[in-house]
Formats: sequence, C-alpha cells, structure tokens
Amino acid sequence: MSQATSPATARVTMPDGRTVELPVLPGTMGPPVLDVRKLYGATGVFTYDPGYTSTASCESKITYIDGDQGILLHRGYRIEELAERCSYLEVCYLLLNGELPTREQLAKFVHDITYHTMVHEQISYLFRGFRRDSHPMAVMIGVIGALSAFYYEDLDVDDPHARMVVTHRLIAKVPTIAAMAYKYSIGQPFVYPRNDLDYASNFLHMMFAVPCEPYRINTVMARALDKIFILHADHEQNASTSTVRLVGSTGASPYAAIAAGIAALWGPAHGGANEAVLGMLKQIGSVSNIKSFLEKVKDKDAHMRLMGFGHRVYKNYDPRAAVLKKSAEEVLAELGHKNNPLLEIAKELEKIALEDEYFVKRKLFPNVDFYSGIILEAMGIPTRMFTAIFALARTVGWIAQWNEMIQDPQQKIGRPRQLYTGQTERPFVPIEARG
Ligand code: ACO
Repeated sequence: MSQATSPATARVTMPDGRTVELPVLPGTMGPPVLDVRKLYGATGVFTYDPGYTSTASCESKITYIDGDQGILLHRGYRIEELAERCSYLEVCYLLLNGELPTREQLAKFVHDITYHTMVHEQISYLFRGFRRDSHPMAVMIGVIGALSAFYYEDLDVDDPHARMVVTHRLIAKVPTIAAMAYKYSIGQPFVYPRNDLDYASNFLHMMFAVPCEPYRINTVMARALDKIFILHADHEQNASTSTVRLVGSTGASPYAAIAAGIAALWGPAHGGANEAVLGMLKQIGSVSNIKSFLEKVKDKDAHMRLMGFGHRVYKNYDPRAAVLKKSAEEVLAELGHKNNPLLEIAKELEKIALEDEYFVKRKLFPNVDFYSGIILEAMGIPTRMFTAIFALARTVGWIAQWNEMIQDPQQKIGRPRQLYTGQTERPFVPIEARG
C-alpha cells in the first residue's frame, strides 16, 4: 500500500486507487517519521498500531535512544558519562534546560530545589487516611495528585514562571512524600528534610533518621543512590511519560498528570519490574536452580517472564543496566556485602540467559531494573519502596517532557482513534422481549 517516492515524501495508494503523498520528516538522529496527519482527510483511513510499536507521538529534543546499539543520550550526552561525572541535580538541570549548568546556574538550581523540599503541614494528615500496609505507590499516587489541591495558585500552565515553580516543587517534594510514605508504613514519625544535605543524602536522612538519635549519612550509599536517580531520570516516550503527556495535553493540573505517570509506572511491565526482579531472585534461591527456572520462563504455558529482561526499544544491552551492574559490585563491596547471594544469582542468570537461544533469538537483554533492586536492598531500602524510588527519579523526566509539550506549537489534546469491530447499529430490544 505504501511506496517511497523520494527521501522527503511517501505515496500511499489505497485499494480503490486513491493516492496521497505524505511527508517523511527527518530527525537529527534515528529513523525518520512518516507524517500521517493528513491521511484520514485524504483517504478516510486511520493507521492501526496497538502498543504504539511504530508510532512517534510527538517531537522531542530531550532524550534519544538507539535500541539496536544500546545507546541512551540526554540532550546529546551519553548516560554512562552523566552517571559517572554529574550529580543528579546537574542532570535534572540538563534535562529541563537543554544544557549542562555552569557552577553559578547549578548553585542557584540546587538552592531552588533544596528550599522547596518541605510539604504543606496539612499533607501529613492525608497519610492518616491510608492503611499502614498500603503500597507506597498507591500512597504516592494519592498524595501527589492531592498537591493540586494545595498548590493551586500556580496552575496557569501557559505561564512560564508558574511552570518553573511547579517543576521545582515536584522535584523537591516528591522525595519528601516518598520518604513519608515509607515512615508511615513502619509507624515511625515523619522526618523533615535537611537543607544542608545533597539531594540523595537528604532522601536517605528522611528515610532512615529517627528523632531520638543522630543519623550518619554513608557517602558511598548516597553517591550510589544519586547514580540510580540519574539512570532513571528520563527515557523518552515510555508508558508513564506518554501518560503524563496525554493527561497534560488536556490542560489538567501538572500534579495530577504526574500522579497519572506514577500510576502507569507501577505496573510490573514497567517500573514495577524492579520489585518483581528481587522477588524472582529470592524465589530462584540459588545458582543451582537457575536452569530449571529458565525452562519455566521459556514454557509459554507457564505465563512467566524473566523480570528485568527485555525492552520495547533496546534490542541490545540496556546501557543503564551495564552501569548498574558495575555499580552493584562496587557498592556491595564497599558496604561489606562481598558475596551477596542475590548478585551471584543475578550475574549467573544473566550469563546463562544471554547464551540461551530463546533470549538470543528474541534479543532479550537485562534492562535497568535487573540490578537496581540488589543495590537498593543492600542499602536497607525495602522492596516495596523500589518503584517509589524509580518514580522519584523519573519525576524530572516527566515534568521536562510536560514542559516541552506545553510549549510545542503542534501540541493538541491526545485523542487516538480505533478500529471498531463491535455490533453494527441495531433496534433496541425491550427487557420483556430479551431472552
Ligand atoms: N521473559 C521471557 N520472554 C520474554 C520477555 C521476558 N522478560 N520479554 C519478552 N519476551 C518474549 C515474549 O514472550 C515474546 O515472545 P514470542 O515472540 O515468542 O511471543 C517476545 O519476547 C517479544 O515480547 P513482547 O511482549 O512482544 O515485547 P514488548 O516490547 O511488548 O515488551 C517488555 C517489552 C514489557 C519490557 C517485556 O520484555 C517484559 O515483559 N519484560 C519483563 C518485565 C520488565 O523487566 N519490565 C521492565 C522494562 S524496563 C522499564 O520499564 C523501566
């Protein structure tokens, strides 16, 4: 039905002979896109792409992924270099503003974030409405959505200053809310943020300090956590980011859009996988059980997946997983967990899977979730907080993408169409005549 006529256009010929020329738009990197916006008007047909496997939903300048090569760039910089050489807030600045900050710009940005970390005191009462055993992601969806009820004065999404305030508030307050969700779940008092600590150290403080004794920050842990935040900061148009854009496209409150992003992230096929990986490694229990576990994964009737493996975009090693694998070795050694059994199982599982025809043929490699949980667990972070930490780190990506969308002149309310296969129109049947 479609045939390229020049690098800049493609001709679509319909079964009835009608044709339409469609522009082929180039990006600066990656595959060009076929601009189908005029297709329906010219031909009366829609495109059909469940799961959006071939659909670019927007134009973006923030993040680029080459899934075949296993390359991830933020604003043109390699993720490996950013993880090695930047702080998380430096990467946040880059994602939001397009350039790495100067010393002065960074100092101002760090100050702006640090001085917004406290939440309205009334928010602490919201937590009491939740059961203590609620999943932290459920609590975060509720509390972050509720920020729109507390910070309503800056909800003019067309005002750049208002957008900047919302952006700073979210990056600053989400860690406070995540830590409060944890404290609430274990019955400990909430711990207020400390403005003298860096972003990751402050989060560790809010998670683990108690009022009755001093809490000493472990700098190895803080740096490793900061790196985990960097590796999760953005990942172009994934399910949760697309959700944030879709909700934001209606002009809804950005706090509500981020809450929707958190809901999308929670699923085990997305950010919830980091929690599932740890459960899976514990279930495998020992290196000797790996082969039989993989046999079950390969058996389609068992409906099991190797969690932390596979990715819609990466058909090569996820570069974030490579950084985390190395980081796991370093952090565990420094924290005195030299022969961590879960890391041993994970490494052996990866080795066997990468040599197995099933995974090779389908190009299934470890993704970002495969090693992150092992590091978080070694830090004493409970499994149920893993996805909440992912959400905390991804908040900057969501809000950067939301800002980009609001300023995009092409932006429209997101409204997909469908291939209808239900009943055609028929006469109504009164209840007494149904049977
Ligand atoms: N274990 C076993 N088989 C797998 C896995 C896996 N983890 N992932 C994909 N496959 C198989 C599928 O069964 C399918 O096989 P088939 O062709 O014989 O039917 C083939 O590989 C293609 O899989 P799809 O589901 O079509 O791939 P899709 O791109 O839709 O899914 C996803 C990507 C959801 C990430 C998938 O790989 C998965 O479920 N992985 C496990 C969960 C996970 O780790 N999620 C985190 C992703 S990263 C993130 O969101 C932060």
